[in-house]
Order: sequence, then structure tokens, then C-alpha cells
Amino acid sequence: MINWYPGHMFKTKKALIEQIKLIDVVLEIRDARIPISSQNPDIDEICQNKPRIILFNKKDLADIEKTEKIIKKISWPQEVYYSLVDTWEFQGLREVWRIIDYVHGQIKDKWQKKGLRPRPLRGIVVGIPNVGKSTIINRLLKKSVKTGAKPGVTRGVQWIKLSDKLELMDTPGVLWPRLGDQEVGLKLGATGSISDEVLPVVEVATWLLKILLEEGKPEFFARFSLNGNENIPEVFAKIGQKRGLFKKVKEPDYDKIALVILKEFRQGLLGKYTLDNM
Ligand code: G4P
Repeated sequence: MINWYPGHMFKTKKALIEQIKLIDVVLEIRDARIPISSQNPDIDEICQNKPRIILFNKKDLADIEKTEKIIKKISWPQEVYYSLVDTWEFQGLREVWRIIDYVHGQIKDKWQKKGLRPRPLRGIVVGIPNVGKSTIINRLLKKSVKTGAKPGVTRGVQWIKLSDKLELMDTPGVLWPRLGDQEVGLKLGATGSISDEVLPVVEVATWLLKILLEEGKPEFFARFSLNGNENIPEVFAKIGQKRGLFKKVKEPDYDKIALVILKEFRQGLLGKYTLDNM
């Protein structure tokens, strides 16, 4: 996964601002489990005044009611459309095409008033790592293959024509996550947007366990045969015992147990959660 040092961030931002000049619509992907924390800190500046379609992906893993409440409270800065999607199961893509149709109609009117010939919108998919950018491009493409998606080159940029309404830049714009805020870092770590290699996994899993214990979802207790009265060290010990993860006799292997907790949380095996609050 990408290591975001300031120089890299600055270069990426400059390049994206240039690319976005060629774009009619930005498809910003966020993680539905962290609808606020999965936002890139400079996204408003990067998108300038282009219409933006925000897709809150991985809906299947989120507490949808909580995520929807949060999304409704956000004050959006400009022309923004949003939708909750689960690209894994192809859920919500019809709504995405509907929004694209609508935005195309709006922009087409503006073009026609200026005497310009209508053409498909040019779009780019952007988002922080692991939110599902590539999966979404593939899903949109799959639907379009039947209607003859074809690649094209304009001004050095590769486009894939997905329909007569949308051409997509073939590679997504990878944005840096919000760093520097410890709680946001924990959420990004728990959901997989920061790679485990650089993650203090025991710290993240401990933070996550506190939430899992508070929320008390049956999937979590059942998965690790817990009775709900354990404290955090006891949960680590029980998981270690159940999965045979020991360093020495009787000493739980905290790193391995933390990775089990994170992996199974990310797979949705411990229930559906939204980690942001508002
Ligand atoms: P990216 O381009 O933004 O970095 O993300 P990518 O599409 O590679 O997706 C990251 C992981 O998230 C992939 O899992 C992908 O299958 C999964 N994913 C994408 N959309 C959804 C969704 O709507 N629901 C669920 N549950 N998962 C989704 P992976 O290949 O197993 O990667 P990883 O988990 O090992 O990181």
C-alpha cells in the first residue's frame, strides 16, 4: 500500500488538480462504515466546482441506519449527489447509473445552451486506499461490456466509454487519507485503509474491541464464544485459546489475535458497524 509522505501527497494533489480540469464529474468513493473519516482532507479543493457523486461503498458491512443519519447531517459544499452501495453484491449500481443520467442531462443542457455538441460525461473515480475504487470501476465496466465499452485516448489520458452518458478515466485517483488525528487513524486501520504492516495492530484491535463489547452484537459474541462479561484482556485470552494462538505456553500471541479480530471484523463476521459518530 502507498506510503504517504508530504512530498508524495503534494505531487499527487497537483497532478489530480490538473487531471480534474479534463473531467465533468467526479465519482468519489468512501467507506460506508466511516462516511466522514474516509474522506480525503483536500477533496473539496481537488474537485473544484465539478459535480461530485459520492458513493458510500461496503454498505453490506455498515450499520446502514447510523451511516444514513450521519450522511444526512453533513452539509455538502457544492453540487453533490450521493448513494450507499455494495459493489461486492452489485447493490445500488442502478441508482448510480440513474444519478449519472441525471447529471448528464443537466450538463448536456448547459452544453447545448453554449452551442456545444452533447457527448458522454468524462468521469474519474477517486478515493483513499481500499474503499473499493477498482471494484467499482470493474462493476461499472462489466455492466457496460454488453453495450460495447471501448477504450479511447484523449489528450494523453485513457478513457473507457461505459455508455453514451459516461466515459471513465481507466485508472482511479488514489487519495491520501486523513492523517494526524489519532481516532481517525484507528478507524482507517480497523477498516483496512492503512496497511497492517505499518499498523499498531494490537492497539487498533484493542480500540475496536472496546466498541464491539459496547455494541454487544450477537455475531461478535457467538464468533468467539464470549458471554459478554469479559474485559479486553480476557477477550484476547479467549480468542487465543479458541484459535490456538500462543507465543509460549499460556501466553496469548497478541499480534496474531489482533490480526484475527481485524480480519474478521473487516469481513463482516462480527456484525455490521459504523465507526463514525456525528
Ligand atoms: P481500492 O481500489 O479503493 O484500493 O479498493 P479495491 O477495489 O481493491 O477493494 C478493496 C477490498 O474491498 C477488496 O477486497 C474488495 O473486494 C473489497 N470490496 C470492494 N467493494 C466491496 C463491497 O461493497 N463490500 C465488501 N464487503 N467488500 C468490498 P480484497 O481484494 O479482499 O482486499 P483486502 O480485503 O485484502 O484489502
